Amino acid sequence: MTTYPDPSRSILQYISPYQPGKPIEEVKRELSLTDIIKLASNENHLGAAPSAMKVLREKLAEINYYPDGAGYELKKALSDKTGYKPDEIILGNGSTEIVELACEAFLDEGCNAVTGWPAFFKYRIAIRIMGGIPVEVPLKNFTHDPEAMLSAINDKTKLIFIADPNNPTGTMVSPSELEQFILEVPENIVVVVDQAYYEYVPPEKRIDVMKFIRQGRNVIALRTFSKAYGLAGLRVGYGFARPELVTAMNKVREAFNCNMMGQLAAAAALDDDDFVRKTVELNREGLQTFYRGFDNIGLNYVPDSMTNFVLVDTGRDVILVFQELLKRGVIVRPMRGYDLPACFRVSTGLPKDNEYFIEKISEVMRSFI
Ligand SMILES: Cc1ncc(COP(=O)(O)O)c(C=O)c1O
Repeated sequence: MTTYPDPSRSILQYISPYQPGKPIEEVKRELSLTDIIKLASNENHLGAAPSAMKVLREKLAEINYYPDGAGYELKKALSDKTGYKPDEIILGNGSTEIVELACEAFLDEGCNAVTGWPAFFKYRIAIRIMGGIPVEVPLKNFTHDPEAMLSAINDKTKLIFIADPNNPTGTMVSPSELEQFILEVPENIVVVVDQAYYEYVPPEKRIDVMKFIRQGRNVIALRTFSKAYGLAGLRVGYGFARPELVTAMNKVREAFNCNMMGQLAAAAALDDDDFVRKTVELNREGLQTFYRGFDNIGLNYVPDSMTNFVLVDTGRDVILVFQELLKRGVIVRPMRGYDLPACFRVSTGLPKDNEYFIEKISEVMRSFI
């Protein structure tokens, strides 16, 4: 067979594809298992907000139409809920897409974006796709190091991504520290504060991004319906920024990026405070179950997660642990791709699943002694 030249852009040699959590069906097929617990993708195991389910059932027959490309109703609902004006809101196919839109709108080829490391893997990919250079500043004590990130800025820096709280560590810098950081970043640079786990964070630890946006600063806050609202499969994320930044991102956005069912479900879910409260409470209990279990086995982990997951250090090649857990029907996320070859990340699930996971990880770790 003739081998034709590889037509890929040269930049692709620097990009490894994003590796999502292993799907349940794949594990069932590969290991001939029937009962699988997936605690690998920080999803909401309570399900989706009931108000969202209701509107989905009612509106399903309308999917022959394109969605509202301007997202009028969802932006209005977000505006009513948060106080941001509709022109300060950008919608995305998940907040992941808004990471891409920010790179497309603000990152010139050959320029750089400062991030922490290990942090959300998608930043690295989105920066590279635009021909930008990720400047990855090591975390300190598993937490973003604002001082070191400020020192990493140079005259080629266009963007900063700071996940607050961070994935995969679950940690946050204090609100005062983050606010000081934003004030010290040169004005021309866009600071993206990724708040994907915002609803899980106690109110006193949340930073007031609106203050900076209303001051006209180049700050974007990212949020999502994938976690606390339980709509990961519908892919709806959103961001807040001053209207000029929203306009710039809208220029590079695909017109119908946010799908119809997603917009409807998200707008309905916003009213479901009760569901979010239950989710957050269940998560708090789940984290306690994990901490107790890890302490009993003597496993190291990053404590005080502000998210719905925990980073765990197994002290050995994590792939072995991952495979042993898989055989027992539990999917966690190994963190080798994040330069943490001994660690996995585990999301909280339903109480019985959390207990089952702790039972199985204890069994697996004992088997290595
Ligand atoms: C820090 C962070 N940002 C963004 C996202 C993306 O969420 P989505 O694209 O589902 O809105 C995630 C998902 O895991 C995340 O951990």
